[in-house]
Amino acid sequence: MFTLRPARETDRAALYRICLETGASGQDATHLYTDPLILGHVYAGPYLTHAPGFAFVLEDQGSGEVTGYVLGVPDTAAFEATLDREWWPPLRELYPDPAGVPRADRTPDERIAHLIHWPPRAPQAVLTGYPAHLHIDLLPAAQGGGQGRALMTTLLDALRGAGARGVHLGVGESNTRAQGFYQHLGFRELSRAPGAVTYGLTLTAP
Ligand code: ACO
Repeated sequence: MFTLRPARETDRAALYRICLETGASGQDATHLYTDPLILGHVYAGPYLTHAPGFAFVLEDQGSGEVTGYVLGVPDTAAFEATLDREWWPPLRELYPDPAGVPRADRTPDERIAHLIHWPPRAPQAVLTGYPAHLHIDLLPAAQGGGQGRALMTTLLDALRGAGARGVHLGVGESNTRAQGFYQHLGFRELSRAPGAVTYGLTLTAP
């Protein structure tokens, strides 16, 4: 049994751990990274710090452990601007830009460090119809029992309540399970680049 609740600051370490343990296209990425925090710095931490009203977690009622999360923002462009001012600068001091290392030779840590220095921007064509975005990750024990749908419903309601007219997300091209989940929930493919697929969902009034 699971409880779904708003995320709290004390959940930060669990969010970073779940991010790492689902970070290889939905599979455990622990063995891929030297620094166990680097993925969370990009895909989990900024949401808890700068969009806490749109961060929800699953708590296992037996163990009390947090076993999943959904993290979103209603206005991606505003969020990106906030991160440029407040989130990335201290991380850039910690993680050097691997600009001198040829792209093909970069380690997984260096590829994420590159994102810290050059965070990708959602294209305007996507933001026009789908200004919100999200990330969702559940540990294996929490998957497949309806908790992903429950987390999505909670976040999508919150985004709708904040006035977002649509939401987009990026998913690894090889993560076909998550792609099937998003399609089942009504998302449609917006674009496909090598390694990644972008999906969008229009948020209609309830
Ligand atoms: N194809 C078709 N339908 C699917 C699929 C699929 N691959 N997966 C789930 N569904 C359906 C279910 O049958 C269910 O249908 P119903 O509610 O109509 O009966 C519905 O989707 C909800 O399924 P849940 O059991 O809630 O899915 P789950 O709890 O496993 O959550 C998720 C899905 C989030 C992908 C989870 O498995 C997970 O966290 N995986 C590992 C991490 C991951 O890949 N995260 C996505 C990264 S991309 C990003 O964050 C933007």
